[in-house]
Amino acid sequence: MTTATTTRPGETLRPHAEDAFAEELKALAAADDRPRPARWNLSPWAVATYLLGGTLGDGTVITPKYVGPRRIVEVAVTTLATDRALLLLGVPGTAKTWVSEHLAAAVSGDSTLLVQGTAGTAEEAIRYGWNYAQLLAHGPSRDALVPSPVMRAMQDGKIARLEELTRIPADVQDTLITILSEKTLPVPELGEETQAVRGFNLIATANDRDRGVNDLSSALRRRFNTVVLPLPATVEDEVDIVSRRVEQIGRSLELPEAPAGADEIRRVVTVFRELRNGLTNDGRTKVKSPSGTLSTAEAISVVTNGLALAAHFGDGVLRASDVAAGIQGAVVRDPSSDKVVWREYLETVVRERDGWKDFYRACREIS
Ligand SMILES: Nc1ncnc2c1ncn2[C@@H]1O[C@H](COP(=O)(O)OP(=O)(O)OP(=O)(O)O)[C@@H](O)[C@H]1O
Ligand SMILES: [Mg+2]
Repeated sequence: MTTATTTRPGETLRPHAEDAFAEELKALAAADDRPRPARWNLSPWAVATYLLGGTLGDGTVITPKYVGPRRIVEVAVTTLATDRALLLLGVPGTAKTWVSEHLAAAVSGDSTLLVQGTAGTAEEAIRYGWNYAQLLAHGPSRDALVPSPVMRAMQDGKIARLEELTRIPADVQDTLITILSEKTLPVPELGEETQAVRGFNLIATANDRDRGVNDLSSALRRRFNTVVLPLPATVEDEVDIVSRRVEQIGRSLELPEAPAGADEIRRVVTVFRELRNGLTNDGRTKVKSPSGTLSTAEAISVVTNGLALAAHFGDGVLRASDVAAGIQGAVVRDPSSDKVVWREYLETVVRERDGWKDFYRACREIS
């Protein structure tokens, strides 16, 4: 059973990974002669290639979706072919959601079997609910049952996704224990159960920086293989990630290309990394860190907003003044303490740096 969509083709603001990269997935499936686990669209090797990028024998280029250590992706993909579920853990903006979507798209051709975890997530969202009109008219029956995305994934042998697992109350999280260890979902109202067919597995994501969250019970933790997604190791890696994503997002928003954008991207990434690390990249000057996370994801949106500014109100070239407001907005979350941190960084680091005069001036103008 697939979810019906009511949008016009080509008009969706954000197509699912399996639609956006349908050509690549098709080419990979055609070139892939390695063994595939039951109901997988691709072999583990081809899934890893889809995520990390590469060139196929016939010259088809597979774009990298995830930029990071190959081994992490290999471990994640392999886990999905075992009886353990996969938990992607990391600080905000380390591509947990992104990787989970692409894994599901590559393995099952369907990234939509998704449960969003919140403090209000109830058991029904993970197990099943009822169509109350049907239930009242005819009593409990298979027809009145509304399966959750997890139940549908079990029936169809696909990958289910659970976002922000640790935001879900602990007793509701424990609903997963039977599903993950027994691979079955009992429906006591009907005296039945749904047994997972081969190909079913689950990818959960959790943010290890969230405050006030519910820890995973050890019983549940044992059902998961945990893979920690790291922050980009170097400035170059992070510039690469931001450039790629900005280009993709810009294309989907039909923003004009900004040829001279590379310098500004490097600048945004440098500022974010230095403030995040509490140290300038040359290792010489200590700086204070602001309260916000300054993730790669935020760098991507600062640059995308800058491009839109340049396109609509500038000359189409991304300049310091187009990113300055966005950077300041990302850094100064807490108006009192972060403002001091930002001022100090501007005066001690930015002002003295060769070739950064335009950026210093642009930041001073708005602050
Ligand atoms: N290493 C990376 N490789 C490719 N893209 C990355 C990487 N790190 C971050 N991104 C990009 O950052 C954006 C945000 O990632 P995503 O939303 O998946 O983060 P997250 O870890 O789920 O964050 P949160 O904890 O806030 O939910 C995505 O557009 C993704 O492409
Ligand atoms: Mg996420």
